[in-house]
Amino acid sequence: MKRYVILISGRGSNMESLLDAGLPGACAAVISNRADAAGLAFAASRGIVTHVIDHRGFASREDFDSALAAEVGRHAPDLILLAGFMRILTDGFVRRFEGRLLNIHPSLLPAFPGIKTHAQALAAGVRLHGCSVHFVTPALDGGPIIAQAAVPVQAGDDEASLGRRVLAEEHRLYPRVARWLLEGRLHLVAGRAQLVGEIAVGGALHVPQTE
Ligand code: GAR
Repeated sequence: MKRYVILISGRGSNMESLLDAGLPGACAAVISNRADAAGLAFAASRGIVTHVIDHRGFASREDFDSALAAEVGRHAPDLILLAGFMRILTDGFVRRFEGRLLNIHPSLLPAFPGIKTHAQALAAGVRLHGCSVHFVTPALDGGPIIAQAAVPVQAGDDEASLGRRVLAEEHRLYPRVARWLLEGRLHLVAGRAQLVGEIAVGGALHVPQTE
């Protein structure tokens, strides 16, 4: 059976949606860089091994990433899912796991990388906002996009209301993409996401053309 590891920093609602999705693989571990991440208790309640590697205990980003890579590597995962993991990863870490390292970001990339994406979207006055799942490369929030889900921005939206609508789409989108990779249908080929086989597309979900 394929194995995946989830990295979190906080609430862990995307992690929950992944764990509840019945993915064709086993969650080998949930790793957090913060001991107070609420998601750790949920993972433990599911009998999943959890680890905390506190970034503040390391002198440099490289030192933290080598400890993180060692822990992740120990579980020999086929897939690593960043789920609200709020640390910028070094090139060394990303290269080691390239092609099996995914992230979910709360905007329609390449618009609004970084943080406070819902505030950025409201300030820009866009009519559509959403979330993106992408392969992680050394460019921050800049790796090849795999799939996106869009939501309308409504009159009277604030950060919280827009964020809630986007989060509901995140919870649908991320498990779908994770499933494709675990099924061996999703690959990173020459810097682009490539999907093989039939994909059922519904609603405002946008995915690559299949072969
Ligand atoms: C999610 O909205 C996720 O997309 C975002 O953090 C939130 C985590 O929530 N991630 C990023 O901004 C990564 N740059 P969660 O802990 O409840 O899944």
